[in-house]
Amino acid sequence: MSDLHKRTENILILDFGSQYTQLIARRVREINVYSEIIPWHNFTSLPEGCKGVILSGSPYSVRDDDAPMPDLSAIIGAVPLLGVCYGAQYLALQNGGNVAASDSREYGRANLTVVNTEDVLLKGMTLGSQVWMSHGDTILNLGEGYEAICSTGDVNFAGFRAVGKDVWGIQFHPEVFHSTEGPTLIRNFILDICGCKGEWTPDNFAEATIRALKEEIGAEDKVILGLSGGVDSTVASVLLHKAIGDRLHCIFVDNGLLRKNEFEDVLSGYEHMGLNVKGIRAGDQFLQALENLTDPELKRKAIGRVFVEVFDEASKQVEGANWLGQGTIYPDVIESVSATGGPSATIKSHHNVGGLPDYMTLKVVEPLRLIFKDEVRRVGKALGIKASLLARHPFPGPGLGIRILGEVTAEKVRVLQEVDAIFINGLKDAGLYDEVWQAGAMLLPVQSVGVMGDERTYENAVALRAVTSTDGMTADWSHLPYEFLAKVSNDIINKVRGVNRVVYDISSKPPSTIEWE
Ligand code: XMP
Repeated sequence: MSDLHKRTENILILDFGSQYTQLIARRVREINVYSEIIPWHNFTSLPEGCKGVILSGSPYSVRDDDAPMPDLSAIIGAVPLLGVCYGAQYLALQNGGNVAASDSREYGRANLTVVNTEDVLLKGMTLGSQVWMSHGDTILNLGEGYEAICSTGDVNFAGFRAVGKDVWGIQFHPEVFHSTEGPTLIRNFILDICGCKGEWTPDNFAEATIRALKEEIGAEDKVILGLSGGVDSTVASVLLHKAIGDRLHCIFVDNGLLRKNEFEDVLSGYEHMGLNVKGIRAGDQFLQALENLTDPELKRKAIGRVFVEVFDEASKQVEGANWLGQGTIYPDVIESVSATGGPSATIKSHHNVGGLPDYMTLKVVEPLRLIFKDEVRRVGKALGIKASLLARHPFPGPGLGIRILGEVTAEKVRVLQEVDAIFINGLKDAGLYDEVWQAGAMLLPVQSVGVMGDERTYENAVALRAVTSTDGMTADWSHLPYEFLAKVSNDIINKVRGVNRVVYDISSKPPSTIEWE
């Protein structure tokens, strides 16, 4: 990405692999300042517009042989620096201080027993306020020229600063919800110390991105983009459409595994938005490729392969297309570069679905690659996209294909579409849709005995799944009201021929996953 994401104000976060690193970026962005995360070992120089740097926490101890030890000389003296947890301990160590394994527990809640509110970092914070600790090491002394600015009962150097320099360290985590005055501290650092103005709003993001897309793509080039009906590809396409008009060619593939009436509804929604979109019905091709397949990964790969074939065929109709637009968002980018450089294990091959064949030599443009999902929604709102579209639950690329356990057939798709529609419409009618992060139904390869009227039945069982989550990485089952579940179960069994039993999935992720396959 050349010019697309240049920023005039940027807070750089050097990531040492903490589970909270993304949260720091979100907190900074909540005060309308752009913040970028890079793995510590990729740091060479300050990016354009950098107004300050935050060092994250880490699963490492500064005493480990292989602990992250970046050279900070390009930062100290150039822009303000704040070390959090491991970052603070690393600063103390670099300053000639001493860090040792802690005798007392330093996990969880603590309260500030000393707060120097004269220090600009702690301005407006109060004595006794709760902070969240999560570290096994502690700082025994700070070295020359550093002084403490706050303490807790167990931790003398809960926060410190370098006298006369713009360097601070805090051993607690201001980014987590349980540090009640964490937002004040972050605000002080970003606005007062780094001098940011906080002008990075969804409107400004949209405007700047459209301008940059125009520049990057030029006045002649054409972009093709695969729409999925989801929030990310929709917002990406609206940004691109505003930048280059009908030189954006959208392709929306009906893989035959979408929700009931989804293809028609979503396609007409896109047409109303003025997008140049071509809908392609390819359900039969997908079903053929799925014949006799029962293994989830083989099913995913077959669906992915046919998608690429169909998409490739459709792209060839767009003469001279030389860019591929994608709705990639920031967590996908961060996850693919881990702070420790190690690959993460493949649980399910999500990200292989819809990959590009090697022979397609298109340049890639990803207008959302630096923003989080909730930011995508806010940008979508700023662009005037309908709220109902922005609030849609995520839906997997292989669709109902991985919610029909075992072999997929046209009849099973029909049955599951009916069940799913009753469940989802029921959630909407009961005002529960927005309380749930994702919901759907699974058609189980199980038949069970039932009785309807005076007749014995021997039909399929379905499982309903609804979860709460923030990012799909972890999830809890939604505690839907019993009355609601009872009504939906009744409606499904009465209305969908072929189903005589409904169960509700009460597993969390981990150890289960959201989808059953
Ligand atoms: P799991 O089942 O891994 O799902 O807990 C987490 C999120 O990812 C979605 N998902 C997929 N999305 N292709 C996709 O595009 C896939 O193959 C796929 N498998 C799971 C799932 O719906 C949930 O939102």
